[in-house]
Order: sequence, then structure tokens, then C-alpha cells
Amino acid sequence: MDWAAKLAPVPHHLAHAASAYYPSGYDEALVLVADGMGETESLTVAAGTEQDLRHREAYQFGVGQ
Ligand SMILES: [Fe+2]
Repeated sequence: MDWAAKLAPVPHHLAHAASAYYPSGYDEALVLVADGMGETESLTVAAGTEQDLRHREAYQFGVGQ
């Protein structure tokens, strides 16, 4: 099996959002990811639809503290 052809790197928080949205069973959903610090983001919002999952907002670690 050619794993390299089947894998695509994605941003840390988008991976979290996908792991929640795709198995959820919802046709549409707003997904909030809060995990302290993934890469440089600490909080992100993504929107899932029947077509895709898109990043909408991000808050950087340490900004505003
Ligand atoms: Fe994480």
C-alpha cells in the first residue's frame, strides 16, 4: 500500500476539528477546538458542512494575556 499517496499533512487544530466533526453524524456544525497550544494556536473555530470543514477563526497562544 502506498501510504504517502493516502496521507496529507493538515494543521494541528484542523485535525482535532475533523476528528470531532466527521464521525459526529451532523450535516452542519460549528466546531470549537481548545487545547492550550497546538502549534501556535490555542483556540480555533471551524465550520463543517456537507461539502467540507473550514477554519474560520483562530486565537494565538499568549495573545491578549
Ligand atoms: Fe492538540
